[in-house]
Amino acid sequence: MPSLSDYFELNKDPIFQILVDVLGNIHSVLEIGSGTGQHGVYFAENLPHLIWHTSDLPEYLPEITERIAREGPENIRGPLALNVCDRPWPVSSMDAIFSANTLHIMPLKIVEHFFEAVGEVLVKGGVLCVYGPFRYGGRYTSESNARFDQYLKQRDSLSLGLKISRI
Ligand SMILES: C[S@@+](CC[C@H](N)C(=O)[O-])C[C@H]1O[C@@H](n2cnc3c(N)ncnc32)[C@H](O)[C@@H]1O
Repeated sequence: MPSLSDYFELNKDPIFQILVDVLGNIHSVLEIGSGTGQHGVYFAENLPHLIWHTSDLPEYLPEITERIAREGPENIRGPLALNVCDRPWPVSSMDAIFSANTLHIMPLKIVEHFFEAVGEVLVKGGVLCVYGPFRYGGRYTSESNARFDQYLKQRDSLSLGLKISRI
Protein backbone atom coordinates (compact mmCIF):
# COMPACT_ATOMS: atom_id res chain seq x y z
CA MET A 1 0.00 0.00 0.00
CA PRO A 2 1.56 3.37 -1.01
CA SER A 3 2.31 5.77 1.84
CA LEU A 4 1.35 9.46 2.10
CA SER A 5 4.93 10.26 1.04
CA ASP A 6 4.54 8.15 -2.13
CA TYR A 7 1.32 10.02 -2.99
CA PHE A 8 3.05 13.32 -2.24
CA GLU A 9 5.74 12.53 -4.82
CA LEU A 10 3.04 11.77 -7.40
CA ASN A 11 0.83 14.79 -6.76
CA LYS A 12 3.19 17.61 -5.72
CA ASP A 13 3.95 18.90 -9.24
CA PRO A 14 0.40 18.75 -10.69
CA ILE A 15 -0.81 20.66 -7.60
CA PHE A 16 2.10 23.07 -7.86
CA GLN A 17 1.17 23.95 -11.46
CA ILE A 18 -2.27 25.06 -10.24
CA LEU A 19 -0.94 26.93 -7.20
CA VAL A 20 1.55 28.93 -9.29
CA ASP A 21 -1.44 30.21 -11.19
CA VAL A 22 -3.96 30.87 -8.39
CA LEU A 23 -1.59 32.04 -5.63
CA GLY A 24 0.41 34.45 -7.76
CA ASN A 25 -0.91 37.60 -6.03
CA ILE A 26 -1.41 36.02 -2.62
CA HIS A 27 0.60 36.71 0.53
CA SER A 28 -0.63 34.41 3.33
CA VAL A 29 -1.78 30.78 3.05
CA LEU A 30 -3.21 28.57 5.79
CA GLU A 31 -2.87 24.83 5.18
CA ILE A 32 -5.39 22.56 6.91
CA GLY A 33 -4.35 18.99 7.71
CA SER A 34 -0.66 19.42 6.84
CA GLY A 35 0.01 15.75 7.74
CA THR A 36 3.68 15.01 7.12
CA GLY A 37 4.40 18.69 6.33
CA GLN A 38 5.75 17.74 2.90
CA HIS A 39 3.32 19.80 0.87
CA GLY A 40 3.90 22.87 3.04
CA VAL A 41 7.69 22.64 2.77
CA TYR A 42 7.62 22.02 -0.98
CA PHE A 43 5.14 24.77 -1.83
CA ALA A 44 6.69 27.33 0.54
CA GLU A 45 10.10 26.63 -0.98
CA ASN A 46 8.86 26.97 -4.54
CA LEU A 47 6.53 29.94 -3.91
CA PRO A 48 8.84 32.17 -1.88
CA HIS A 49 6.53 35.22 -2.06
CA LEU A 50 4.09 33.38 0.27
CA ILE A 51 3.97 32.97 4.04
CA TRP A 52 2.75 29.36 4.38
CA HIS A 53 1.10 28.50 7.73
CA THR A 54 0.91 24.76 8.48
CA SER A 55 -1.65 23.22 10.85
CA ASP A 56 -3.10 19.89 11.92
CA LEU A 57 -4.57 17.93 14.81
CA PRO A 58 -2.24 17.87 17.85
CA GLU A 59 -0.99 14.32 17.23
CA TYR A 60 0.49 15.34 13.85
CA LEU A 61 2.35 18.39 15.10
CA PRO A 62 5.64 16.74 16.21
CA GLU A 63 6.27 15.28 12.72
CA ILE A 64 5.51 18.61 11.02
CA THR A 65 7.67 20.52 13.54
CA GLU A 66 10.56 18.13 12.88
CA ARG A 67 10.25 18.43 9.11
CA ILE A 68 10.12 22.24 9.22
CA ALA A 69 13.19 22.33 11.49
CA ARG A 70 15.04 19.94 9.16
CA GLU A 71 14.13 21.26 5.72
CA GLY A 72 11.67 24.16 5.97
CA PRO A 73 12.41 27.42 4.14
CA GLU A 74 12.20 30.70 6.06
CA ASN A 75 8.69 31.53 4.77
CA ILE A 76 7.00 28.51 6.41
CA ARG A 77 5.21 28.89 9.77
CA GLY A 78 3.61 26.67 12.40
CA PRO A 79 2.43 24.10 12.86
CA LEU A 80 -0.70 25.39 14.56
CA ALA A 81 -2.95 23.00 16.47
CA LEU A 82 -6.13 23.31 14.46
CA ASN A 83 -9.08 20.97 14.51
CA VAL A 84 -11.56 22.02 11.85
CA CYS A 85 -14.39 21.45 14.36
CA ASP A 86 -13.02 23.80 17.00
CA ARG A 87 -14.38 27.22 16.13
CA PRO A 88 -13.31 29.91 15.84
CA TRP A 89 -10.05 28.84 14.21
CA PRO A 90 -6.95 30.40 15.82
CA VAL A 91 -6.14 32.54 12.74
CA SER A 92 -7.76 35.32 10.77
CA SER A 93 -7.45 37.32 7.56
CA MET A 94 -5.80 34.63 5.44
CA ASP A 95 -5.49 35.38 1.72
CA ALA A 96 -5.76 31.69 0.84
CA ILE A 97 -6.54 28.31 2.39
CA PHE A 98 -5.11 25.07 1.03
CA SER A 99 -5.98 21.52 2.02
CA ALA A 100 -4.94 18.23 0.42
CA ASN A 101 -6.46 14.81 0.98
CA THR A 102 -8.60 15.84 3.94
CA LEU A 103 -12.24 16.36 2.93
CA HIS A 104 -12.83 12.76 1.84
CA ILE A 105 -11.85 11.40 5.26
CA MET A 106 -14.09 13.83 7.16
CA PRO A 107 -17.76 13.11 7.82
CA LEU A 108 -20.21 15.60 6.32
CA LYS A 109 -20.71 17.54 9.58
CA ILE A 110 -16.95 18.25 9.77
CA VAL A 111 -16.86 19.24 6.11
CA GLU A 112 -19.64 21.74 6.92
CA HIS A 113 -17.49 23.15 9.74
CA PHE A 114 -14.62 23.38 7.27
CA PHE A 115 -16.52 25.51 4.77
CA GLU A 116 -18.17 27.71 7.41
CA ALA A 117 -14.81 28.43 9.07
CA VAL A 118 -13.13 29.06 5.72
CA GLY A 119 -15.74 31.78 5.20
CA GLU A 120 -14.80 33.32 8.56
CA VAL A 121 -11.02 33.19 8.10
CA LEU A 122 -10.52 34.08 4.43
CA VAL A 123 -10.27 37.74 3.43
CA LYS A 124 -12.87 38.98 0.98
CA GLY A 125 -11.92 37.69 -2.45
CA GLY A 126 -9.57 35.10 -0.89
CA VAL A 127 -8.76 31.77 -2.54
CA LEU A 128 -9.69 28.27 -1.37
CA CYS A 129 -7.75 25.34 -2.93
CA VAL A 130 -8.68 21.77 -2.09
CA TYR A 131 -7.02 18.69 -3.54
CA GLY A 132 -8.21 15.10 -3.19
CA PRO A 133 -10.35 12.37 -4.71
CA PHE A 134 -13.75 13.68 -5.84
CA ARG A 135 -16.57 12.52 -8.05
CA TYR A 136 -17.38 14.75 -11.01
CA GLY A 137 -20.96 14.82 -12.24
CA GLY A 138 -21.54 11.88 -9.88
CA ARG A 139 -18.87 9.78 -11.61
CA TYR A 140 -15.61 8.43 -10.28
CA THR A 141 -12.53 9.51 -12.19
CA SER A 142 -10.95 6.05 -11.86
CA GLU A 143 -11.68 2.47 -10.79
CA SER A 144 -9.27 2.86 -7.91
CA ASN A 145 -11.20 5.91 -6.64
CA ALA A 146 -14.44 3.89 -6.77
CA ARG A 147 -12.79 1.14 -4.69
CA PHE A 148 -11.32 3.74 -2.31
CA ASP A 149 -14.80 5.23 -1.79
CA GLN A 150 -16.19 1.79 -0.88
CA TYR A 151 -13.30 1.28 1.54
CA LEU A 152 -13.89 4.67 3.20
CA LYS A 153 -17.62 3.98 3.58
CA GLN A 154 -16.96 0.56 5.12
CA ARG A 155 -14.50 1.84 7.70
CA ASP A 156 -16.43 5.06 8.34
CA SER A 157 -17.81 4.42 11.84
CA LEU A 158 -14.46 3.14 13.11
CA SER A 159 -12.02 5.55 11.55
CA LEU A 160 -14.11 8.66 12.03
CA GLY A 161 -15.56 7.82 15.46
CA LEU A 162 -13.16 9.95 17.44
CA LYS A 163 -13.78 13.07 15.40
CA ILE A 164 -17.55 12.58 15.31
CA SER A 165 -17.55 12.46 19.09
CA ARG A 166 -16.19 16.02 19.16
CA ILE A 167 -19.25 17.61 17.52
C1 LIG B 1 -4.79 11.71 4.55
S1 LIG B 1 -4.03 12.90 5.59
C2 LIG B 1 -3.44 14.08 4.41
C3 LIG B 1 -2.21 14.78 4.88
C4 LIG B 1 -1.56 15.76 3.88
N1 LIG B 1 -2.41 16.89 3.63
C5 LIG B 1 -1.25 15.05 2.58
O1 LIG B 1 -1.94 15.25 1.57
O2 LIG B 1 -0.28 14.27 2.58
C6 LIG B 1 -5.43 13.70 6.30
C7 LIG B 1 -5.06 14.83 7.26
O3 LIG B 1 -6.25 15.46 7.70
C8 LIG B 1 -6.12 15.77 9.06
N2 LIG B 1 -7.43 15.91 9.69
C9 LIG B 1 -8.38 14.96 9.83
N3 LIG B 1 -9.43 15.43 10.52
C10 LIG B 1 -9.14 16.72 10.82
C11 LIG B 1 -9.81 17.75 11.54
N4 LIG B 1 -11.01 17.52 12.10
N5 LIG B 1 -9.21 18.95 11.65
C12 LIG B 1 -7.98 19.17 11.10
N6 LIG B 1 -7.29 18.25 10.42
C13 LIG B 1 -7.86 17.03 10.27
C14 LIG B 1 -5.35 14.56 9.60
O4 LIG B 1 -4.80 14.82 10.87
C15 LIG B 1 -4.33 14.33 8.52
O5 LIG B 1 -3.17 15.09 8.67
